[in-house]
Amino acid sequence: MAAIFESLKGKRVLITGSSRGIGRAIAIGFARCGADVALHGVSHGKAIDEAKALVESYGVKAVQVFGDLGESHVPAQIVDQTVKELGGIDILVCNASVQIRRKWLDITDEDMLLQTKTNLFSTVKLMQAAVPHMLKNGWGRIITIGSVQQDKPHPDMLIYSAIKSAILNIVQSLSIQLADKNITVNNVPVGTIYTDRNTEALSDEEYHKKVKDSIPVGYIGNPDDCVGGVLLLASEEGRYITGENLHIDGGKFM
Ligand SMILES: NC(=O)c1ccc[n+]([C@@H]2O[C@H](COP(=O)([O-])OP(=O)(O)OC[C@H]3O[C@@H](n4cnc5c(N)ncnc54)[C@H](OP(=O)(O)O)[C@@H]3O)[C@@H](O)[C@H]2O)c1
Repeated sequence: MAAIFESLKGKRVLITGSSRGIGRAIAIGFARCGADVALHGVSHGKAIDEAKALVESYGVKAVQVFGDLGESHVPAQIVDQTVKELGGIDILVCNASVQIRRKWLDITDEDMLLQTKTNLFSTVKLMQAAVPHMLKNGWGRIITIGSVQQDKPHPDMLIYSAIKSAILNIVQSLSIQLADKNITVNNVPVGTIYTDRNTEALSDEEYHKKVKDSIPVGYIGNPDDCVGGVLLLASEEGRYITGENLHIDGGKFM
């Protein structure tokens, strides 16, 4: 992988929600290419220490930043800390999200507000904090991790799905505004991937089969399956790709 994306060597990357799951796999992918990484989680724990050790095993710098993205001061705070500790920020991957499953008739104000603040507002605020640094450097990459639910909304995740679609709209608007500044902005909707958030749901044999059968390639993905596409978009080789919505889902969106 390092041989393909050599341009990522020395880049400074912040990946939200990279203590575990898809974010961690992306962080390791960047480290393999020689990029320095700011790992992020809600709070300190064993998972993010493991992630740091894995990133550092590739000989790059890893720092840890913390905070609940539902709190309005956190996005700017973690970008500032990344800039301070890595010396700048070249690539922002907005990966963390919260996801509430509930029948749509039972959705509460609290459910809506929590997902909107954590998933939507924080994405905009992370971009607002990071882009001025990218403009100063004359180079930048922003990647948001979306969901197959943009195309196929789950009946019990009405708000989560709608926010993922709204983020694509923001990505497309910003990609135009930043295109001539050498900053690309892309969205990567991923399909069903084995991570902590769906372990319980997928432990049901019948549901597991139903999900698997809905994926054209015939299997549920692993976090590593999401990495190559993100690295391409972040690399110099991906410079002519912006405003894209790159599905990594085994064909499930069709
Ligand atoms: N897994 C899938 O099947 C799937 C499908 C479609 C889309 N996605 C999208 O892919 C992305 C990654 O999902 P994942 O499955 O890898 O997630 P995950 O395994 O559930 O990991 C969640 C990550 O987000 C962090 N996080 C959780 N709540 C947060 C909050 N309030 N503020 C800040 N950070 C928070 C966690 O930090 P702590 O470790 O500190 O808790 C952790 O690093 C998400 O945007 C998700 O919507 C996933």
